[in-house]
Amino acid sequence: MQSLKEKIQALDAEVKAVVADASADAEQFRIRFLGAKGAVKSLFADMKDVLPADRKEAGALLNAFKEAVELSYADLKAKIASSRTVVPVLDYSLPGSNITLGTRHPLRKVENQMVSIFERLGFTVATGPEIEDDYHNFTSLNMPEHHPARDMQDTFYVSKNPDLVLRTHTSSVQARIMEKQKPPIRVICPGRVYRNETISARAHCFFHQCEGLYIAENVSFADLKQTLYHFVTEMFGADTKVRFRPSYFPFTEPSAEMDISCTVCAGKGCNLCKHSGWVEILGCGMVHPNVLKNFGVDPDKYSGFAFGMGVERITQVKYRVNDLRLYSQNDVRFLRQFQAG
Ligand code: PHE
Repeated sequence: MQSLKEKIQALDAEVKAVVADASADAEQFRIRFLGAKGAVKSLFADMKDVLPADRKEAGALLNAFKEAVELSYADLKAKIASSRTVVPVLDYSLPGSNITLGTRHPLRKVENQMVSIFERLGFTVATGPEIEDDYHNFTSLNMPEHHPARDMQDTFYVSKNPDLVLRTHTSSVQARIMEKQKPPIRVICPGRVYRNETISARAHCFFHQCEGLYIAENVSFADLKQTLYHFVTEMFGADTKVRFRPSYFPFTEPSAEMDISCTVCAGKGCNLCKHSGWVEILGCGMVHPNVLKNFGVDPDKYSGFAFGMGVERITQVKYRVNDLRLYSQNDVRFLRQFQAG
């Protein structure tokens, strides 16, 4: 009996030492004290040597010890688990991580610039549907069915009945405005347009336009020229020269195409201007009386001018982008070059 008591005391001391040890291993503890070949088991085996008279007391002692060991085991596990919760160590002296700023797409950037130039002249922005009916895209703009001018733009046809197309120009938006609004009208129509062209560095099946329309009393070709000249000097700088060449559009008469002096070589001759010193940037003209009549505007009282330009073209001239496909490839190496603004 005496020896059993002493053994329990010795083991109890050992249990306490393990629980107090910061680096203790719970599993080793369990094997050492509570396992199939552990200390508690071997104490129970020792019971057979205890005299029958002492058995009761020894049994109680042993059970108490076993419970104490089990409690210690639970304690030890809890202590280890709580010591594992990682408290993050913050180093406030580390440099912060960079927040990468997005950039505006070059076409949007140029479109915004174009719109703001015209807004300062009193134009307001108008938008319309990209899937357009034949009437607004063609017929109302003096291009009745079978009119040869329809072939000037390769059209994507959506359906025959109703007659729907992907708009080939944003003149369709101007048609919708003339339908709704009485003169004076002064709108600018930015938007995406579609043409059935093979994709290459110089052509794409979709691109962006910014078209303008001004209808009021006594609007003259001189107003058109001055408005576009103002636009060009704001967009490309005060030294830029313009020239107008007679042209043909079914919805304007007279019609013209406008060139600007080459922004790269200033007229000396380079690849952009194909060594002519001039770069074509837009089409324009006085609104055709038939178009005015189609929308119930009296051509004897009112006159107007219209113009249309490609945003890609203006961006190409301004930023010297030489492949149209870059605009829609979403290559960040290209896009990153248009930081800010
Ligand atoms: N709508 C014409 C085009 O897309 C451009 C234009 C607009 C020409 C207005 C003259 C007047 O080619």
